[in-house]
Amino acid sequence: MELQQQSASTTSRHPVWLLAGFWFCVIVALAVAVRRFLALIRPSPGSRPPQMEALEATFASHATLTLMHIIPAAIFVVLAACVLLRPWRSEWIERLFFPFGAITGATAYAMSAYSIGGWLERSAVLVFTTWFLYSLGRAYWFRLGGQEEQKRELMTRAVAVLLGIATARPVMGVFFATSARTHLGPSQFFGIAFWAGFAINTVVIELWLHSKRRAQLHNPGRVCSFR
Ligand code: HEM
Repeated sequence: MELQQQSASTTSRHPVWLLAGFWFCVIVALAVAVRRFLALIRPSPGSRPPQMEALEATFASHATLTLMHIIPAAIFVVLAACVLLRPWRSEWIERLFFPFGAITGATAYAMSAYSIGGWLERSAVLVFTTWFLYSLGRAYWFRLGGQEEQKRELMTRAVAVLLGIATARPVMGVFFATSARTHLGPSQFFGIAFWAGFAINTVVIELWLHSKRRAQLHNPGRVCSFR
C-alpha cells in the first residue's frame, strides 16, 4: 500500500514523458560505462571494424583516466536516480551525490584533452560541464542554507545537463550508421553529437522547469514542488 502511494506520487510529480526520457538516459549512460569498463579490462584487439578499433585504441591509451571518469560517472547516475526519484529518503545518498558529481565533472574536463571530435567536442564539454558544475555547486549552496525547493530545482537541472551525454549516443549511432554514405568519421561527428545531446537535454529541462514555475504563478495556492 505504502509502495503504491510512493510510486503514484513519483508519477504525479514528474510527467510520464519526462520519466521515460530520464530512464532512457540512465540506462544508456550505464550501458556505455559498463561496455567501456569491460573493453578496458578485457581488451580484444582485431575483433572490430577499423573505425571502431581506432576508437578502442584511443581510450586504451589513457585507460586510467577513462576509468577514473566512467566509474564515478556511473555511480553518480545511480545516486541521481535515487535522489531525484526518491524511492526512499536517505541523507547519506544525497551527501555522496555532490562529491561524485564533482569528480565526474572534473574528469570530463580532463577527458576532453583527448577528445576524438577535436575543438568542436571540447567546446561542448567546456560549456556544458561548466553549466553542470555551476548548477551542482548552487544546489549544494542551497542545501547548506536549508532551501529545499531551490536545491531540488538545481539538482534536477544538473542531472539533466549531465545526462546529455546519453542523448548524444543515439545521435552518434545515426552518424555511424550513415557513415558509408556521408563519409563522415568520428573525428568529424563526435563534436556535433556532443553539442546536440547536451543542447537537447538543457533545452528540455529548462522548458519543464519554466512550465512548473508558470503553473505555480497561475495557481498560487498550489505548492510548486521539484520533488
Ligand atoms: C557532464 C557530463 C559529461 C561530460 C562532459 C563527459 C565528457 C566525456 C569526454 C570528453 C569523453 C572523451 C570522449 C572522446 O575522447 O572524444 C568521455 C568519455 C566517456 N564518458 Fe563521459 N562525460 C560526461 C558524463 C558521463 C557519464 C554520466 C557517463 C556514464 C555513466 C560517461 C561515460 C563515458 C564513457 C563510457 C566514456 C568512454 C567513451 C566511450 O566508451 O564511448 N560520461 N566523456
